[in-house]
This record gives sequence, structure tokens and C-alpha cells, in this order.
Amino acid sequence: MTAGRAAIGAGPEAAARGWRVVTLEAVSSTMDEARRLALGGAFDRTVVRALEQTGGRGRMGRAWASPPGNVYATAILRPAVPAVRALELSLVAAVATADTVAAFGGTVRLKWPNDVLLDGGKVAGVLLEAMTAGAALSAVLVGIGINVASRPELADRATARIETADADAVFEQLLSALGARVGQWTRDGLDGIRAAWLERGPALGSPLTVGQGGELLRGSFAGLEPGGLLRLELADGSLRRIASGEILA
Ligand code: BTN
Repeated sequence: MTAGRAAIGAGPEAAARGWRVVTLEAVSSTMDEARRLALGGAFDRTVVRALEQTGGRGRMGRAWASPPGNVYATAILRPAVPAVRALELSLVAAVATADTVAAFGGTVRLKWPNDVLLDGGKVAGVLLEAMTAGAALSAVLVGIGINVASRPELADRATARIETADADAVFEQLLSALGARVGQWTRDGLDGIRAAWLERGPALGSPLTVGQGGELLRGSFAGLEPGGLLRLELADGSLRRIASGEILA
């Protein structure tokens, strides 16, 4: 192990919650570290946390600014479900991250599929990568970044950070919330998670613009499908079921 990548270790609190935590000082991206560990046979509920990332990445090929002081973590999950259900973990992680942020105060809302807003600014994001072996799901990498000590200044969107805690406290809270929500999903399926997402999601009927591979779809929010897809009602009354895309407004 080289300097700057030393494993700092898992706290007893994390182990008590069923997580194995590998904490690294600086990495390119915890997604890559988690993938490497998963390929090497890492157990379900292993979490890679980095204190800083030099190549943090977000959805849609964006970079995720990752200076020290914020939370950067990727959980390796090995759920016994068909690969088509992997996407459900996107909502599971969004709800767990919203629970985490809400524990420190403020008004927390969700933007589909998994942006977490604090008092109107983006405070956290989730990046999911599925790993398959043939047609079977071998692991899902659930990457979560939460702004704590700092937030990026972005021209096109408001950002926020948790101002009332440090990254260690937020990370501990995240392990607890993610453990609880993954447990709920494993036991009961997506229904309860979907309901929790909708409590923090947009109001039914509110206008939405969705960007999908160069196409702009304008309509209104019509809820979530049982499997988590976004329902968008277009002006002509037809319904679009959207599996991936970005809410632009
Ligand atoms: C988004 O675009 O909203 C998703 C951001 C996900 C960032 C996290 S930080 C931990 C993990 N490592 C990464 O490189 N990305 C994710």
C-alpha cells in the first residue's frame, strides 16, 4: 500500500452495524477502488471511504469536486436480485442519503432519481454502477458524495453543504441510514422506499423538463412506477416512463 492510500481502518460502530469500512486518504475515485475490491471478492456491505478524491465523478460524465472535508464513499452491495432490479438501489441510496442529511437539520428534498437538495441547493449525489457476471448481477457499487466542509460554486445550479457537523459524523449517520434502508428494501421490496422518496420528491403535477440523450421532454410529474421509473405526463396527456435522464427544471 502506498503513502496517501493507507487504510485507516473501520470503527467499531461501523462493524456493529454490519459494514466493513475501508478508509483511504486520497484516491482517484472510490468507485474504482470499490470495483477493484469487488473483483477481488469483497463481501456484501463493504464500504470504501476516501478523505479526498482526485478524479471524483458524477452522473452524466460530470466531475465531482472532492476536496478534503466532505463525504466520499462507495458501498459494495451484492443483493440476491435479478440484474433488472439493480436500478432500484438508486432510490434506496437517495432515500438513505436524504435521511442522513435531514438528521442534521434543514429542509431536504429529492430530485429524480437521486439528487439530494438541502434548503434548495444540491448537497449530495449518488452514482450507481452495476457489475455483472454473464447475465447475473455480481455487485452494485453505490457511490455517495455529501458536501460538508465545502460545496462547489456552480454557474448552473445552487449547491449546499451540511454546516452543523463534520464529515466523520455525517459518514457514521450515512452508514446507519444506508444499512436501515437497504435492510428495508431487502425485506419488503421497493414499495416503502418509493413512498419515502415521494414524501421528499416533487409535488404531483409539478412541471418537469427531462433531458434524455439530446432530447428535451416537457411535462408534469406523475409519480414513480412500482419499479422506480419516473412517470412524466406530456402535454397531450400521454405518459412517458423514464429509466434514465436528467431533470433540468
Ligand atoms: C452526481 O452526479 O450527483 C453523483 C455524484 C456521486 C459522487 C460520489 S463521491 C463517492 C463516489 N466516488 C465518485 O467518484 N463518485 C461518487
